[in-house]
Amino acid sequence: MSKVKNKSVIVTGAGSGIGKTVAQQFAENGAKVICADIKGAEESAKAIQDDGGTAIGVHLDVTQLDSWKEAKEKAISEFGSVDVLCNIAGISEAVDIVDLEENDFDNMININLKGTFFGMKTVLPEFVKNESGKIVNIGSLAAHVGLTGLPSYSASKGGVIAMSRQAAVEYAPKNIQINVVSPGIIETPILANNPPEVTKEFTDATPAGRLGKPEEIASMVLYLSSDESDFVTGQVIKVDGGWGSK
Ligand SMILES: NC(=O)c1ccc[n+]([C@@H]2O[C@H](COP(=O)([O-])OP(=O)(O)OC[C@H]3O[C@@H](n4cnc5c(N)ncnc54)[C@H](O)[C@@H]3O)[C@@H](O)[C@H]2O)c1
Repeated sequence: MSKVKNKSVIVTGAGSGIGKTVAQQFAENGAKVICADIKGAEESAKAIQDDGGTAIGVHLDVTQLDSWKEAKEKAISEFGSVDVLCNIAGISEAVDIVDLEENDFDNMININLKGTFFGMKTVLPEFVKNESGKIVNIGSLAAHVGLTGLPSYSASKGGVIAMSRQAAVEYAPKNIQINVVSPGIIETPILANNPPEVTKEFTDATPAGRLGKPEEIASMVLYLSSDESDFVTGQVIKVDGGWGSK
């Protein structure tokens, strides 16, 4: 499997859904995991410890730069370094663009896009110093095709993809790889924010005929975090049951 043994990995959004599963898979493969979230971080870390893995929980609000600095310092003091950052924390909201409130648009961009920016800004100096590092950001199918009712979400994820590609080119000479995984529709609590008919529409529209599982995103995140992908950077990998290729 993926070569992530002994890597020190910050996983945001580790309290739930995809991030929680990613954190578990890292730990199962011998990584030292910083489970970071505004909610559920400690519980996720405890579950990993109970299974014999190495993890700590850190309260992180991705929209606060100071919060990021604390998370990075905690990772270094506990595990000696930061080798990988997985920006997985995010929110989603289904609303027509005409009805979308300015505050809600700003909140979406703050968490999904600015939160990812803050994470990259925080760890990149460490990676430059170490002459290696990996960042895996989470995009979305919504950034590649038009999906019903997701204007601010699509914009935020499109921004994540463009920013990741830019940084990947800039930091490739320093042996730092930055990639994006764009999930299709995955079975996690985030889907509760969509009306059921929208979720059904998404399922029916997926060529694979089913929703994806968090584990199917996690395995790609682990590959892009491992030594096996050292020549892969600036890529956007869709894990979407074929929807983005229709
Ligand atoms: N589930 C899907 O179908 C799907 C599809 C495409 C992309 N994604 C993306 O995958 C990522 C994970 O989503 P999920 O489905 O696991 O959702 P989820 O709701 O289960 O998990 C999201 C996590 O992000 C955390 N979070 C929210 N705001 C935060 C903040 N300010 N600071 C720190 N943490 C914060 C939440 O507490 C939660 O634990 C998100 O970026 C989402 O946009 C999900």
